[in-house]
Amino acid sequence: SNASAGRPQLAEPHLGAVLASAGLDAEYVRAEGNHLYQRGEDGREVAVVDYAGGYGSLLLGHNHPAITAYAQELLQSGVPVHAQFSLHPEAAELALALDGIVRRETGDTEPFFAVFANTGAEANEAALKHAEMDRGMRLGALLDSVRSGFDAVRDAVRDGSATVPAEVFARFGVDAPGPAALDMLIGRLAAHNEEQAGRPPVFLTPEGSFHGKLAGTVQLTHNEGYRAPFRALAAQARFVPLDRPGTLRKIVDEERATLFGLVLEDGRVRLSEHEAPVVCAFVLEPIQGEGGIRELSAEFVQEIQDVCAEIGAPVVVDEIQSGMGRTGDFLASTRLGLRGDYYTLAKSLGGGLAKISVLLVRASRYRGEFELVHSSTFAKDGFSNRVALKVLELLEADGGAAYRKAAELGDRLLAMLGAVREDFPEVVKDVRGRGLILGLEFHDQSGAPVPAIAEAARAGLFGYLVAGHLLRGHRVRTFPTASAPETLRFEPSILLSDDDIAWLETALRDTCDIVRGGYRRPLALP
Ligand code: F0G
Repeated sequence: SNASAGRPQLAEPHLGAVLASAGLDAEYVRAEGNHLYQRGEDGREVAVVDYAGGYGSLLLGHNHPAITAYAQELLQSGVPVHAQFSLHPEAAELALALDGIVRRETGDTEPFFAVFANTGAEANEAALKHAEMDRGMRLGALLDSVRSGFDAVRDAVRDGSATVPAEVFARFGVDAPGPAALDMLIGRLAAHNEEQAGRPPVFLTPEGSFHGKLAGTVQLTHNEGYRAPFRALAAQARFVPLDRPGTLRKIVDEERATLFGLVLEDGRVRLSEHEAPVVCAFVLEPIQGEGGIRELSAEFVQEIQDVCAEIGAPVVVDEIQSGMGRTGDFLASTRLGLRGDYYTLAKSLGGGLAKISVLLVRASRYRGEFELVHSSTFAKDGFSNRVALKVLELLEADGGAAYRKAAELGDRLLAMLGAVREDFPEVVKDVRGRGLILGLEFHDQSGAPVPAIAEAARAGLFGYLVAGHLLRGHRVRTFPTASAPETLRFEPSILLSDDDIAWLETALRDTCDIVRGGYRRPLALP
């Protein structure tokens, strides 16, 4: 069945070997709706039910007929695909549509501007860059105003209309009397300010976060294995624990930077202190996906909003996996009462066909200058923009029937997972999530009665062992969340049927039975 047998394998062969070792080296020949198809030994197609859902890009399913038909129509009509640096009316329309949906849901009164990109990580990378550009401009304005304060004080002291109290000089170790003293004082303050302003930006993000694997975004991805080799490449993040109220405030206090200025007050020169922006942004997933399907608590979200408002840092809501209607709302953050300054969307925005992502920025935070310094050859292409518009049209049709469907199917799927948990409490630790982003967490199996299972658990590979068994033994496709490998994730499309749910239930019950040691029968290993 392997067309490339005998030829050198040059396309990431190491990954192929890893897949094979877990029994996940499947080859698919066709995809439709909620299913992928393999070619069986007899040449016939064998259906696999897809709970991995393209890592969340397939809320509308594989090859949705309305999307593929529209895509063919676009290509047939010769629509301009690459016409960079020209007007893009369809991008304007897409931005307006996104803004309308986001504001309908959040009740926000300000518009959101859109910057388009290609992948999830790239949209987040744009968010980090935009936030840093904004921070730099705010910092620059603050430094300018402090400098003009120095000039005004210098003039006033020179013409005798103001004097500097001795304690101001003393505080900065200036004891030279006479005209040189003020210059020395200002020199020291300016040097201090320069040093503080030159500190690298700090990003804040919850423990367990996943925001991508590019040079900037990987610093905000908690998983050490992904992040540590590349930590020298970009500004660092501080990871905030999920359930320890007060920690965020403590971290922010540790990062504070103060600039010193001088102001005139009734003929006397007074020292002024100004908080400089060091924290560039707080970046979060409302429901952590890759980190194990964990929804942030309303309390944590409130603390984030309060602290960020205090220090003027933007809240970047990464809805790349949780958004686009998957939870029953367009944005998963809506239910948490979270108001983002930035939102990022990708995955299902492309309808499973186009590669498109977007950064939305609240008008009052938006820096138009960014548009002239950030771009990509492929961003905002005419094909992807139009496919994304079609996706929004499908989601919004019939008064948002697709959102209701996601919520309702999610409830049913979660109820099934809950029933499995109830029957196998020693195997299943937790089931959680919302809508069609659900997780099932296994108990630590390092002491399991079946030796192969205990061994895999001790090596941190239990989730992959189960995924391999589900695929080979039951033709169910799902994976553990990469940074929490004891948790399986379920992100099917809204085409999920009762049969698909029953199919997964049978597979999970069989798996749990084997894990529990109910049958002396091995998992279906490679
Ligand atoms: N942000 C979130 C919340 C994600 O889940 C992902 C990708 C990204 C950003 C990066 O997007 O892959 O298009 O560059 N998550 C996948 C996953 C890989 O395993 O859930 P990308």
